[in-house]
Amino acid sequence: MEFMETIKVTKAATSKLREVDFNNLGFGRYFTDHMLMAKYQDGRWQAPEILPYGPICFDPAMATLHYGQSIFEGVKAFRMQDGRSAIFRPYENLKRFNRSAHRMEMPEISEDIFIGGMRKLLQMEDKWIPHEVEHAMYIRPFMFGTNELLGVMPSSSYLFMIILSPVGPYYAAPMRIQVEEKYVRAVEGGIGRAKTAGNYAASLHPFAIAQKNGFDQILWTDAHEHKYVQECGTINIFFLVDGRLITPSLANGTILEGVTRDSVIKVARDIGIPVEERNISILELIEAHQAGLFTEAFGTGTAATISKVQEIRYKDRSLLFEPLQFKLADTLKAKLTGIRDGIEPDVHNWMLPVFE
Ligand SMILES: Cc1ncc(COP(=O)(O)O)c(C=O)c1O
Repeated sequence: MEFMETIKVTKAATSKLREVDFNNLGFGRYFTDHMLMAKYQDGRWQAPEILPYGPICFDPAMATLHYGQSIFEGVKAFRMQDGRSAIFRPYENLKRFNRSAHRMEMPEISEDIFIGGMRKLLQMEDKWIPHEVEHAMYIRPFMFGTNELLGVMPSSSYLFMIILSPVGPYYAAPMRIQVEEKYVRAVEGGIGRAKTAGNYAASLHPFAIAQKNGFDQILWTDAHEHKYVQECGTINIFFLVDGRLITPSLANGTILEGVTRDSVIKVARDIGIPVEERNISILELIEAHQAGLFTEAFGTGTAATISKVQEIRYKDRSLLFEPLQFKLADTLKAKLTGIRDGIEPDVHNWMLPVFE
């Protein structure tokens, strides 16, 4: 890729790689030696640069701090069994990033900068992409407005950056989730479909309350009646009811269009499981559970791939599950992991090699 060759690189004087304990990475705690940065000014993107990872300086009047024009993505690169490294479906993240940019009145980014910049950065940091099982390189592209003046208006300058964080396995215990009936994540016409910072800020207070009550996640419901389920904190939600996999529809624009969600739908269909994307009411789930037809519930997201649910609490009623018996969740996770590790055939052409 010619564009990648043109990216200016300033190398870090020393590497932090040796200081990192790859058996105890956690999530988002360590960052690699370099970062990518591109400035948008005078109505266009300037040439991106790769620099040593480090703090950035900003003015107290910087637009994002006050008015929240900030969007981001979460992508992963994996070490495949043959030793090569590859990124999982980054073009989907590019599309979602530009949809978020459009909604937040920010400039779109080019494939050259987003994908080319990501690959070039990963090529430089290839030694950081973990070899350990179930580990990965978490890739965080983000963009924010950098105007230095007060006033509610779109910023005229922006910074696009990519940082990389090697991450360990996400062995979360099966989740207990509470159906949220007071607070709202998104409403039609709002910003629920955008991966923008404010959506996460708004979730923190209701999430803290749910945690105090002993739950791991909130299951958001529609803003009008609190009757139809939407998604959880940073995961989309799936239910296996009477042999059919059902998940809330994206049609009203209140749910984040998860890349893992789309991958799970495609893999489930590949193995002959019927999938329905539609409105799902709490009442329907309760009735299916009472009838013994509702056998699995799980969340999907880049961080954990598939997270099983052990309890859904609605008012004073608990729907309980047996995660150890979840056959479909295990099968889907094994298929996705297999594709990422290069063991299963990549029939959808999802893996983008870091080199080549
Ligand atoms: C609100 C929300 N829903 C769902 C997801 C899952 O999306 P993906 O599978 O692309 O990680 C995420 C994570 O990005 C999220 O932040």
